[in-house]
Amino acid sequence: MVIGVPREIKNNEYRCAATPAAVAELVRHGHVVMVEPGAGIGSGITDEAFVQAGARLAHTETVWQESALIYKVKEILPPEYRFLRRDLAIFTYLHSNAHREMTDALLASGCIGIAYEDITDAAGNFPLLRPMSEIAGRGGFLMACQHLQSMYGGGGLMLARVNGVRTPELTIIGAGNAGMGVAEMAAALGNRVTILDVSFERLDAARLRLPPNVELLLSTPSNLEICLKRSDVLFNCILWPKARRDHLVTREMLRLMKPHAMIVDIACDEAGAIETCRATSHDKPTYREEGILHYCVDNIPSAFAATATSLLSAATLPYALELADKGVIRALRENPHLRRGLTCINGVLTLEETGRKQERPWQTPEAVLETLGN
Ligand SMILES: NC(=O)c1ccc[n+]([C@@H]2O[C@H](COP(=O)([O-])OP(=O)(O)OC[C@H]3O[C@@H](n4cnc5c(N)ncnc54)[C@H](O)[C@@H]3O)[C@@H](O)[C@H]2O)c1
Repeated sequence: MVIGVPREIKNNEYRCAATPAAVAELVRHGHVVMVEPGAGIGSGITDEAFVQAGARLAHTETVWQESALIYKVKEILPPEYRFLRRDLAIFTYLHSNAHREMTDALLASGCIGIAYEDITDAAGNFPLLRPMSEIAGRGGFLMACQHLQSMYGGGGLMLARVNGVRTPELTIIGAGNAGMGVAEMAAALGNRVTILDVSFERLDAARLRLPPNVELLLSTPSNLEICLKRSDVLFNCILWPKARRDHLVTREMLRLMKPHAMIVDIACDEAGAIETCRATSHDKPTYREEGILHYCVDNIPSAFAATATSLLSAATLPYALELADKGVIRALRENPHLRRGLTCINGVLTLEETGRKQERPWQTPEAVLETLGN
C-alpha cells in the first residue's frame, strides 16, 4: 500500500505521525511510504533520516494524491479538503464532533476516516488517547507554571512549595491519564494537590501512584465548590461525553474562584465540563472570562513534539500496519477495536457521538461495512 505522511498544517503543530523507525517497519512490510519534506523537522527529525529509513520524499499534492492511506496527527483543515476523495483512508486524530465543517467535507468526499481517539482496547480503554493525554497533563501543568508568571499576565504565583510563603493549592478534576500527569508533576513540586473523580477505582489507582499528601475526593457538587473557592489553579481532565450538554463548572461558579486563579482546560471541550471553555491555539493560548485566566489549547503535546512524536508513532504503528497489511476494509471488518474508530465511509457518518452532537443521521460501522462488497 502507498502510505502518505504529510506535514501538519495546524497552528503550531510540530508533531509527525511516523518516526523513521515506524517508516522502516512499514517499508519492511512491503509498503511505500511518502513523506512530505519538513514533516518531521518540528520533532527534530530530518528529511534525510526519513530517506535512510526507506521513505520517498514528495510534495504535498503528491503525498495526498498518490497515497491510499494518509497517516497524520491532527484533524483535516480547510486547505486539505480538496485532497479528500472516495478511495482515500485517513488515519489521524479527527475529533469530528468538534469540527462540523470538517465533518461536512469528509462526508461530501466519501473518504474513509478513522479517528485515533475512538479506537478501543479489550478493556474498553482508548489506547491512542492515553499517550497524548499523559503528555497533555504534564504539559498542561508546565503551561500553568508559565502563564501564571507576571510577564505573561498571570498572578505571579510560582507553583512550588517555597519556604516562608503559602503553598499553592491545585485542583484536578478527573483522575485519568491526563489528570494523573498533572498530579504527578504538581505533587513533585510540593503543591497542595486535590484530585476529584466519580470513580472509586480511579481514586484507588491514584492513591497507589501519588504521594500521601495528595487529597483524593469524590467529584460531588459540594466538594467541587470547596475546591473552586480555595484553588489557585483548576485543571479539567475529564473525558466529557461528546453529546453531553450540561456543565460541571458554570460561568456563575467562576465567581467563587480567587481573583488571580487560573483554569487549565486540558480536556478542552468547547462549552463542555467548563462552560466558559473555547479552544485556543499556541499562538494565543489564554483568555479571561469573569476575570479568570483560561488556558484551553487543544494540541498541548505539540509543544513537546519530539517526546510526543516518539510516543504517538509507537502507539499508532500496530494499527497502521494492520490497515496497510490487510487492506483498510478487511482490517476494519476483522478488528472491532479499530472499527470503533471508524468515523465515516462512503459518505455515511458512522460515529454515533458525532451524529448525536451535530444532530446528523448516522449508521453503525457494522451496518455500512456489511453493504460493501469484498
Ligand atoms: N488539550 C490537549 O492537547 C489534549 C491532549 C490529549 C488528550 N486531551 C483530552 O484530555 C481528556 C482526558 O483524557 P484522559 O485520557 O485522561 O481520559 P481518562 O478517561 O483517562 O480520564 C477521565 C477521567 O475523568 C473521570 N470523570 C468522569 N466524569 C467525571 C466527573 N464528573 N468528575 C470528575 N471526574 C470525572 C473519569 O472517571 C476518568 O477517571 C480527553 O478529553 C482528551 O481528549 C487533550
